[in-house]
Amino acid sequence: PRSFSRHLSCPGTIAASVGSEEQPSAVAETGIEDKTLQKKFSEVQKERREQAQRTVLIHCPNNINEKKFLKYLSQHGPVNNHFFYESFGLFAVVEFCQKDSINSLQNGTHTPTQSTEAAIPFKSRFLNLRLKNPSSQVSAQPFVRTTNQSPPSSKKLFELLSYAESIEEQLNTLLQAFQLTEENVRLRHLTCSLIEDIAAAYFPSCVIRPFGSSVNTFGKLGCDLDMFLDLDETGKLDVHKNTGNFLMEFKVKNVPSERIATQKILSVIGECLDNFGPGCVGVQKILNARCPLVRFSHQASGFQCDLTANNSIALKSSELLYIYGSLDSRVRALVFSVRCWARAHSLTSSIPGAWITNFSLTVMVIFFLQRRSPPILPTLDSLKSIADAEDRCILEGNNCTFIQDVNKIQPSGNTETLELLIKEFFEYFGNFAFNKNSINIRQGREQNKPDSSPLYIQNPFETSLNISKNVSQNQLQKFVELARDSAWILEQEDKNQPFSSSRQPWGLAALLLPPGSGHTSLSRQKKKKPMSEKVKGLLASIKSNSPDRSTDTSGK
Ligand code: GTP
Ligand code: MG
Repeated sequence: PRSFSRHLSCPGTIAASVGSEEQPSAVAETGIEDKTLQKKFSEVQKERREQAQRTVLIHCPNNINEKKFLKYLSQHGPVNNHFFYESFGLFAVVEFCQKDSINSLQNGTHTPTQSTEAAIPFKSRFLNLRLKNPSSQVSAQPFVRTTNQSPPSSKKLFELLSYAESIEEQLNTLLQAFQLTEENVRLRHLTCSLIEDIAAAYFPSCVIRPFGSSVNTFGKLGCDLDMFLDLDETGKLDVHKNTGNFLMEFKVKNVPSERIATQKILSVIGECLDNFGPGCVGVQKILNARCPLVRFSHQASGFQCDLTANNSIALKSSELLYIYGSLDSRVRALVFSVRCWARAHSLTSSIPGAWITNFSLTVMVIFFLQRRSPPILPTLDSLKSIADAEDRCILEGNNCTFIQDVNKIQPSGNTETLELLIKEFFEYFGNFAFNKNSINIRQGREQNKPDSSPLYIQNPFETSLNISKNVSQNQLQKFVELARDSAWILEQEDKNQPFSSSRQPWGLAALLLPPGSGHTSLSRQKKKKPMSEKVKGLLASIKSNSPDRSTDTSGK
């Protein structure tokens, strides 16, 4: 294999968070450049799905003995991997080596009969373990070591950032603290697989595929789980059989539009999840949205889930982001920090509205990195131009072709540091001509805006659409002001602060300080007060706020 000199300052992150554990990054052990070939998105997804199908979720008593538990399970076949985590109780994720073990385990389970609940004849892979001889020891704390599935608190984050020795290190620290862990990725795929079992009651060969930040390398611990019901596999079965005399009856049922068909399908799956979905609570059918969906909370895993149908372009977008996120480690570090910065300043929200979305922010970072000299990221058109025949992809009439093998993309010769890049990012968008130009990652250059939306970011695949159409002039203005303030803060530090020796929030930490903590917009202050006074003010504001309340960095 070719040798790669990509920027890989975060050892093993891709391999650990989205790849398979069989191929750990070489950097993790050696500290030298990574020579591991990156897997294709489709390969990673296929492996993860297959792994999830060999996995069960078990609600365990707190006083479980790990050794006995594993011994008991291995009666059904060898266990490949397991871990515990806490949600509403203690849970174990157990991956068997073979799928058959699941049947064996399920055959030995029984459904409890309670007068208040009627059992339905459905064998799920979500089990409850009741010990026959429960120990008299009652403990609120689990006996086993559990893995963490939540993002760090703001207090913890500020602490971590204060230990770093450079802004570069701060960005990498933030990435390490927030990125999805191997266990969290497994749990996400398992949740999709469990939902697939239920959906399969209606559509036997359907696939529930995760997309969005769970798989695009930009997922933060705590982010929602986007999944879509893929019925194409069912369709593919009869693609070659268009010569026979029989037509499938259900295909000729009269539905006025694809959208209505999607709504009907999601509606029955929503009912099914609501009535029979083990651990699915708060099921809401949001069928009149632009993209109809069923939203629910999967209690055992703790994920907020959004289930859509007919969403193959969104999956392709996730693959594109995966490619960009895997090309150069600076991309993820920068995107994570920008997303955290936006969340800390309430530029993004978990509620839909006139806010910028994380998806738009990610595209803005990609665009900025395409504009560096030399470019850090290639344009989408150039990824299309080096595509092979097998990469060809047309979805709903849109050409979504691009190279799927990251290893075939020439690494960038750009060696700019993250410290420079984050400063330049804020500088760039603080001065961007949003009033006349649009952002276009397909061509990697600004273009005249085709309409008067305040923020116009061309949809990479449906090129006549704007992915940030929802953003209001006010929100854009707020973004621009905060970007300018942040560029200014970083610039001042550059000039005045020997930051590594101070214990004050500096660098990235200073950028994440929340609004409303006592300081007014720096852009309004900057001509009046010297830096030392501002830092004092910021410090006082942190002290007067409980750290956990000070910044919500934990949400989406
Ligand atoms: P989080 O905020 O961490 O959940 O990021 P996300 O990337 O998962 O975003 P979200 O859950 O809002 O959307 C999931 C996926 O849907 C995104 O990754 C995109 O692929 C797609 N998507 C979201 N919003 C838009 C949009 O406005 N236009 C288009 N074309 N796709 C979108
Ligand atoms: Mg999401």
